[in-house]
Formats: sequence, structure tokens, C-alpha cells
Amino acid sequence: FGKEEVLKLLETMAAFKLNVLHWHLVDDEGWRLPVEGISPSADSYSREDIHEIVAFAKERHVRIVPEVDLPGHARALVRAKPDLACFPNGVGAPKNGVDNVVCPGKDSTVAFLRTLVASLAELFPDSEYIHLGGDEAWKTHWKECPLCQERIRKEHLADEEELQGWFMSRVADYVHKHSREVAGWDELTETGIPEDAIVYGWRGMGQAALDAARQGHRVVMTPAKVTYLIRYQGPQWFEPLTYFGNNRLFDIYSYEPLGPEWSPEMAGNLLGVQASLWTEFCSSVADVNYLAFPRLAALAEIGWTRPEDKDWVRFGKSVDAFSVRLPRLGIVPARSMFNIQHKVVPENGRLKVMLECERNDVQIRYTLDGSEPCARSPLYRRPLEISGDANVMAATFRDGEMLGKILSLPLGWNKATACSFVYGGDPVLLNGVRGSLRRSDSEWAAAADIDSLCIDLGRVADVKNVILGAVNDFGMAVHLPRKVEVSLSVDGKSFDKVGEWNIADNQVFAKGTFVIDTGVSLGRPAAARYVSVKVAGQGRTPALHCRPASESRMYFDEIIVR
Ligand code: ACM
Ligand code: ZN
Repeated sequence: FGKEEVLKLLETMAAFKLNVLHWHLVDDEGWRLPVEGISPSADSYSREDIHEIVAFAKERHVRIVPEVDLPGHARALVRAKPDLACFPNGVGAPKNGVDNVVCPGKDSTVAFLRTLVASLAELFPDSEYIHLGGDEAWKTHWKECPLCQERIRKEHLADEEELQGWFMSRVADYVHKHSREVAGWDELTETGIPEDAIVYGWRGMGQAALDAARQGHRVVMTPAKVTYLIRYQGPQWFEPLTYFGNNRLFDIYSYEPLGPEWSPEMAGNLLGVQASLWTEFCSSVADVNYLAFPRLAALAEIGWTRPEDKDWVRFGKSVDAFSVRLPRLGIVPARSMFNIQHKVVPENGRLKVMLECERNDVQIRYTLDGSEPCARSPLYRRPLEISGDANVMAATFRDGEMLGKILSLPLGWNKATACSFVYGGDPVLLNGVRGSLRRSDSEWAAAADIDSLCIDLGRVADVKNVILGAVNDFGMAVHLPRKVEVSLSVDGKSFDKVGEWNIADNQVFAKGTFVIDTGVSLGRPAAARYVSVKVAGQGRTPALHCRPASESRMYFDEIIVR
């Protein structure tokens, strides 16, 4: 994103009293830093841009922490300077897609880092901290690289993990030579933490940074499970496609970095909280703003408000007020906090539909006849109990005004809907609701739950089709089943296998995100009360997968019996 956009972000940050911009200037997708030895691309900031941004931030008391992320996340760098890689241009590289690391075995890499740190120090004269990244560096190439192995021997390092520690310490030395302090992601804790380095806790709930704080290191908390803005900010049915689970406005607002496990000394090591916004799903600044606002306001509150002074309803009113003002700055904040999260569970042969909104100062109104809800529609007070096909539509209202998007929830009944499992299976598979492409939309069950399951249809019925909805999400190593077997029984004791579904060759570890129906269709209907389903997964991902040699997972949304 360009200079003007960064300036606008700084201005808005200052208004929210957010006083640090951690600027992740380089990654696999791009190198945005004007430094010697790398030809500037049209997308990079010029030196003048950086000087202007630095001065603008300083005037607003916003500190900039520039980051160069190394040794991993460096695909753009090794494309521009192939000699920095273990296997330049991939020649002789192990075949596995994880080629985005630089080679710490080469003295030229270390020399490049010395000039890089010097450039950073010069571009950011007031920045006390230089962030060196250090996250998610695949070690596959280092294991095969003769120079990396030689470095390990010469420096008496135990393994590739320690090689990363050695590399980070070398760069840290250069940072110290420029009288700056070192910061890095919490992978720093995997080996000896460079002297005085600040650890940014990002994995999970930031546990590694908590441990570092216990050992006396300063930390910044930016736990992916709470403050990563790349995650969904509301009910996923309404959100543009992104990653992982939900970090709602309420989740961020409720986050309290200093839990009971923090002693007062450790608490003194907490420098602050950070929201991290990765932009690989953003194609415009409007997309960035949508993920950032209003959630940055919740971040500001947890940074500046004592836990006992937090008040969700009061904060909601503040959010409403600035949501009116932000558009005057050209920023359109998300309104996801007004959307409805549904949960549908089978109960006594019916479907119990529960609706919820994270804003508790709104009313939920619904219809069942296919019409759009309005301010006079029935008020949702308790779970709805539904039998038979229905389309539940609902929205939130206040003072007669509709606030969020309309939830349209088709409940499609089949012979298995609202039935129970004899064994195995997650009730979400029988709730009449299909999942979206978002595997964490709460309609998908992980495969471990359904390796083998048996549904009781409640009575003997004619069975012609047994369908199992599956999703493929390559980037997350979520894949289709290899094989699905269906058996039927009248008495629940003797089962007949009636068919199997096998994966097509072109769907083995297929790329992309898509949903397909697996399962079997019988030539002639068979009478059965019990339906047993067995599923075999595809096992370990191959070397060329983006998550190489990891156990693939399966997710299913619904079992449909017709
Ligand atoms: C990170 O999200 N890889 C720091
Ligand atoms: Zn190497």
C-alpha cells in the first residue's frame, strides 16, 4: 500500500492513541524497502517516501518499528538476489516448495545483512527497535545445503534450529552496533534469545512470549488467536474469504494480556499489545480498512483501559460514534458486530435454531415464511424449534433500523436430519445446514470425529443416496477423503456394505478451496434404519505440497440420506 495510505493509517492511529506502527516491510510477496543492492520496483517506497512517513509519524508521536523478516518469508528477496539462497534459482534444491529462506551458510548472506541493517538504521533514524522477523523459517533446504551444514559444524551448533539462532544473533550484533534494540517473533525462544531482544508473542495465545517474560525478556503480545486482524471478525457467512477462526471485536475487547500467571516482575516486561494485519487476502486499501476498523479501537482500549474499567456496552456506543466519523476520512469500517451467528443442533427429532449477536444492545427479529425481516417481525427471545424444510431469516434492529446483514439460513430436511448417532459423528453433520467455503464457519466437523459412525434414522426407511459433504482447502492441508464406504442395517447388528466412493486421480491432494459431495448412490433403494459410514483420509501430504509431509485433515458439513 502506498505512501498516502500509510499516512492516513498513521493519522487514524494517532486519533485512537495507538502509538506504535510495526511496519512489516518485506515478505514472500514483496520487498518494499529501498536498500542498496536491490533494484527498486515500482511497488517499493522511495527513500523520500520513507523519510516523509517517518517525519509524519514522529509529529503524531507514533513510533515506527521497521521489520525485515528473515531468514524465512524471503521469497521476494531470493528472487531478486538468488545468490542468497542455498540453491540459487532452485538448482539442486530438494523438491518441496519451501524455498523462501536465505542461506545462513554463506558469508555473502551475512555480509548482505550487515548492509541491510545499516540501511535500516539510516532510513529510520529515530527507531529504537529493529524487528528481525525470524518466524516460520523452513529448515528443509538447510538440511541439504553443504554450506549450511559446514556452518553448523564450524560453529559447533546442534542442528538447523541452532543455525537459525546463530543467524539471528549475527544480525542482532549488527543492530546493536547501530545502537538499536532487537525485536523478533516468538520463534526467537526456540534457541538462545539474542541479548535484550524483545519477543513478539504471536503463536496461539502467545505462550512462548509469556515464558520469555518469565525469563526476564521484554515482550509484546500479539496472539494470533485474539489480535490477528487477518482472522474473521464476525459470523463467517457474511465475511470475505480469509483465514482460520474468528477474532471478533468482542474477543479483542475482552482480551487481557496480563492473566493470573503474570507476576508483577513479569508484568513489567510487557511493553504492549499489538494487532497484526497480514494483507494477503486484501486487494485494495478498502479491504485493509475493513479488517482494521473497528477492531483497532478495541486494541486501543485494551492498551489504555484498566481491566476493571472495561465496559462492552459503553465501548459499543463509542464505536457507533466514530463509525459515523471514519467515513469522513475515507474509511468505511466493518459492521460485522451487528451480524448474527447461528447455531443449529438436532434435539428430539427437531432442529433447535439459536441466534446470537455480539452486540447486546440490539434486537434480533426473524421470519420463517421467506420474507425479509423488518422492525415488526417477531422478536427472537429463545431458540426456535423447527421440523420440516424452512428458511430462517433474521437481522438485528435498534430503534426500528436494521443494523447488520440479513441472515438467510435454509434448513434442508432429509431422512437423517435431526436424527441421532448410535456412535461416532458430530451432531453438526445432521443439522440440515450446509457449510460455506469457510471451513471454520461452525458448520464443518473435523474428520477425527467421524472415522466410523452410525446414524439411527429412527425407523426403517428406503435409502437410495448417502451423501457426505467434504471440503478441500489446500493451503490448510485439508483434503477430500480417499475413500468413503457406506453400509446399511435394519437391526443395527448385521450391516451390508452397499457401496463406496473413491477419490478421482485429479483430486488427490488437489489445490484450491472447493466443496464436493462424496458418498454413494444405490441402484435400487434398500430398506434400512441404521446407516454406517467409514472414511479413509489421504494421509501425509507429499513433498510438493505447501505444507509438505504433514498429516492431512478432513472436514465434513453434512450427511444427507435420501
Ligand atoms: C506470523 O504470523 N508468522 C508472525
Ligand atoms: Zn544453505
